[in-house]
Amino acid sequence: MDISRVNYISKSEILNQIILLRVDLNLPLIDGKVTDTLRIDRLLPTINLLINNNCKVVLISHFGRPEGRKIKDYSLYKILETLRVNLGISSIQFSSDCVGNNALNAVNQTKFGGVCLLENLRYYKEEELDDENFAKRLSEIADIYVNDAFSCCHRNHASIVGIPKYLPSFAGLGLENEIKMISQALEKPKRPLLIIIGGSKISTKLNTIHNIVKKADIVAIGGAMANTFLASKNIEIGNSLFEKNMINDAKKILKIAQENNCEILLPSDFMVANNIKEGNKAQEFDIKKIPKNKMILDIGNESISNIINKLRRSHSVVWNGPLGAFEYSPFDLSTKKISNEIAKLTLENKITSLAGGGDTIAALNQANNANYFSYLSTAGGAFLEWLEGKELPGILALKK
Ligand code: 3PG
Repeated sequence: MDISRVNYISKSEILNQIILLRVDLNLPLIDGKVTDTLRIDRLLPTINLLINNNCKVVLISHFGRPEGRKIKDYSLYKILETLRVNLGISSIQFSSDCVGNNALNAVNQTKFGGVCLLENLRYYKEEELDDENFAKRLSEIADIYVNDAFSCCHRNHASIVGIPKYLPSFAGLGLENEIKMISQALEKPKRPLLIIIGGSKISTKLNTIHNIVKKADIVAIGGAMANTFLASKNIEIGNSLFEKNMINDAKKILKIAQENNCEILLPSDFMVANNIKEGNKAQEFDIKKIPKNKMILDIGNESISNIINKLRRSHSVVWNGPLGAFEYSPFDLSTKKISNEIAKLTLENKITSLAGGGDTIAALNQANNANYFSYLSTAGGAFLEWLEGKELPGILALKK
């Protein structure tokens, strides 16, 4: 995607304005506690810049999928304190509505150089419908729109593509950095480029795999998705999950990879068990000996070594999708060992590493290696659509 014609706040001087800042505060919560603040941390440069320029910052975001209903469980109030602490701000005004008098009052009560947060955009069904009138009402709150939510840029929603029709619109510093990092990793990588792709289904990542075999020098495939590729080669995979209806697609992908000189690295051995909960009875089997009554739940040691050897000869790596059922020990072993190696190579400046996708980051966090990657994308769906080679509507809306 061409990102050169995007309006960036880094290239503009915005002073003393009311800013509608689209952020992604769709944060993971467990027992009411935010478990990962990466999306807040990434907002700091933009918010600090705007505050220092004496702007009034009005944060807008969705939270979960309340589908147009005002449900308390989806209130952004739940994350207000974490937001305040992580942004290092003494107080943040909160409005229980994102449009109308409540919103206007909260904005009026916020000083220039201060921050306020409006309630969940998805309390209105008009948000997801990209309703023109709703976008207009939102835009009336401010002078300028800034989008710092890469992870929402794949959505044709009012707060992403609607508001830029009514206000001068810019990409924030976090969004700029994220699209530049991803673009660099895929369009101008230091080669060889190895892409690791995992997860359970080819069907959800079909377009992504089609695109990446044209960009990468090597694609290592793991997760249950690899099973469908193995089945397409008539390899016995026992009781393992696979997608029968995707066998032809798997064959086509292998052909396209060959035509594009992309090496596909499929696993050659596996950790198997009766089911995911019987990790204590897991055994390792070679590709030719997978028992009929067992399930593949992770790749085996030989496959891990094969990926590590390729990593040692690569200069860039992009990772999306876990390789095994990492939530259940010992099926987290491949993620641990491979991410250890990426962390080491990154620290030694031998490789540039990028990872994205909710599950992927969770798996890397569990392995204590997420922080060693050169860059982590904050996005799930948007990251995948970028890997697919799609133009993201939220970025298109910010183009000059
Ligand atoms: C995400 O968490 O990936 C973004 O916030 C987008 O959420 P959505 O898939 O509900 O649009």
